[in-house]
Amino acid sequence: MAVNAQRFLDDLHKLREFGASGVGNGVSRPAYSDADIAARRWLAGRFAEACLEPHFDPVGNLFGLAPGKSLLMGSHSDSQPEGGWLDGALGVVAALELARSGDRPISVVSFQDEEGRFGVTTGSAIWSGKLPLEHADDLIDHGGMRFSAARGRMRDLAQGFVDPNRFTGFLEMHIEQGPVLDTNKEKIGVVTDIVGIRDMVIEFSGQQNHAGTTPMHLRRDAFQALSAFNSLINDRFKNVVSPQTVWTIGHVDVHPSASSIVPGQVRFSMQWRDGDVDRLARMESIIRASAEEIGRAIGVEFRFGQMLGIEPVEMDPELRQSLEDGAQTVAPGTWRVMPSGALHDASNVAALMPVAMVFVPSINGISHDFAEDTSEADLVIGLQVLEAALASH
Ligand code: GLV
Ligand code: MN
Ligand code: MN
Repeated sequence: MAVNAQRFLDDLHKLREFGASGVGNGVSRPAYSDADIAARRWLAGRFAEACLEPHFDPVGNLFGLAPGKSLLMGSHSDSQPEGGWLDGALGVVAALELARSGDRPISVVSFQDEEGRFGVTTGSAIWSGKLPLEHADDLIDHGGMRFSAARGRMRDLAQGFVDPNRFTGFLEMHIEQGPVLDTNKEKIGVVTDIVGIRDMVIEFSGQQNHAGTTPMHLRRDAFQALSAFNSLINDRFKNVVSPQTVWTIGHVDVHPSASSIVPGQVRFSMQWRDGDVDRLARMESIIRASAEEIGRAIGVEFRFGQMLGIEPVEMDPELRQSLEDGAQTVAPGTWRVMPSGALHDASNVAALMPVAMVFVPSINGISHDFAEDTSEADLVIGLQVLEAALASH
């Protein structure tokens, strides 16, 4: 039986309704939010209708299990606080459509907290054994909630962890989330490898004081420390990075955040990504040394949080070849092989079984924004490439 493109698109649009926000197809469905849990309950129902056994594990990863040994396909259904309708959701719904339309046994998964409300791809990191549950339980989100409390919100659904040995491999379809395919008017990217990531919280603590009376030379201003730190690392990274290296300070919490108070404390996220682990390590040295130097120069204390990371991962050659064959059949001349600069659950699952990934274009290269989108025609091409890949594998 062939895939049903309309049923696939209808389910994608239905999933978008959970946490629909902002403009266009925007979604706000952070891990363990009411919208996320409602979406997972709905997905579990859709899995059951497709004769897949719904199974929530202790951290809220949702599986739809085919009997016996099967291929695993899927992605995640949580979103960034301001996200789009396709990041993660596409891979889950495409997997469901392939599982219910084909003859071979396919299990489906929606991993929990891929978007890193608590860590980095938290649910698949725990399932793959890379992140011990006891360590994960101590992770805290930007609002001060503990991971243990968040996963407790799904306690009534939880069963045990699924044995990875029942799966023969993992395929994940995703939007590219960057400009390469769209700019080049291509339809499909077959992923070669996924870059590595490092992520930690840094804190500068100075002295909170009156913004009118405290002379500039006596201030121990935590925001000024962050500002100087940012300039220093940007300068020092120039000698180390490649054009593919990226780094981001995406969350900043200035305390107490008032116009007339010299900030006494700043807590911020520091994230950097690259395909080369030595370069990631050199960047870490620069970050640590720069924080120390700025701390001394401005008279603020500094503290580094738990460092989270995922190593760069190559895709499995055989599974990747099937995707390339599928791309060549469905979209001849309009596909390419490419690395992934975004992180994916496949990075963790690669520790357990062979994995491969396929991308469809993101309009204007935008993602992690309400404006994220892909044409429905391109979504269906991606689905058909997976179908063709399964036929050739
Ligand atoms: C995953 O969403 C990432 O941040 O790459
Ligand atoms: Mn994603
Ligand atoms: Mn994402």
